[in-house]
Amino acid sequence: MRKNTNPVDAYVKSLLGEQLPSQIPAIESQLIKDDLLGINIGFTEAAILTFLIKSLKVETILEIGTQYGYSTTWMLEALPPHGRIISLEKDEKHHHQAQKNIQDGRCELLFGDAREILQTRLQNQQFDMVFIDANKKAYPDYLTYACDHVKKGGIVVGDNTFLFGAVFEAPDVVQKNAMASAMHKFNQTLFADTRFVSCILPTVEGLTVGYRNI
Ligand SMILES: C[S@@+](CC[C@H](N)C(=O)[O-])C[C@H]1O[C@@H](n2cnc3c(N)ncnc32)[C@H](O)[C@@H]1O
Repeated sequence: MRKNTNPVDAYVKSLLGEQLPSQIPAIESQLIKDDLLGINIGFTEAAILTFLIKSLKVETILEIGTQYGYSTTWMLEALPPHGRIISLEKDEKHHHQAQKNIQDGRCELLFGDAREILQTRLQNQQFDMVFIDANKKAYPDYLTYACDHVKKGGIVVGDNTFLFGAVFEAPDVVQKNAMASAMHKFNQTLFADTRFVSCILPTVEGLTVGYRNI
């Protein structure tokens, strides 16, 4: 969970100023009330996603892990009027809250287990960007889908890819920790995929980005 006292985030928030989407303060209040603030992305990640979407002219996004629609709202703000986001969430309460928070015809919120939806409803879709921010052990599976369904010139973005520092441990320690080894596999697989040029933006929690150039 991101600490709300992170000074970088507070500073980025102050720089964003008027660029804050109007719904964000209300969603933040709901997250605070339900003791979920910090599970969502922070202002630093929001600014990075906005930068990537606008500079790469992203038009179609798949998000895995909607929660209350905080990151979805930021990404909708960055998308052009004809853009589109599909966001996946398996927790019923989170999905319903996101439905209340997002009233935008460009966004489709799908309820259910992401792996199942990817293999069925979304098996023939292509996206300019896939943003992965859900259950950590499934990141390698989400990556397999993302690498094959991101268009040339598109990006795969994964949040929390330092896994709270666990991926920095010695290889044998990482291997014994199922979540850390899944996250290490995610980073290693994306970096090894020759269709992509990849990097990790060293945010507090790690944000891995792969750009598909083949
Ligand atoms: C870190 S939160 C997402 C935060 C959101 N992206 C944001 O920044 O506002 C992760 C979400 O993924 C959801 N999730 C966990 N496992 C899932 C699965 N198998 N399929 C779909 N969603 C899942 C959780 O219920 C939770 O709401």
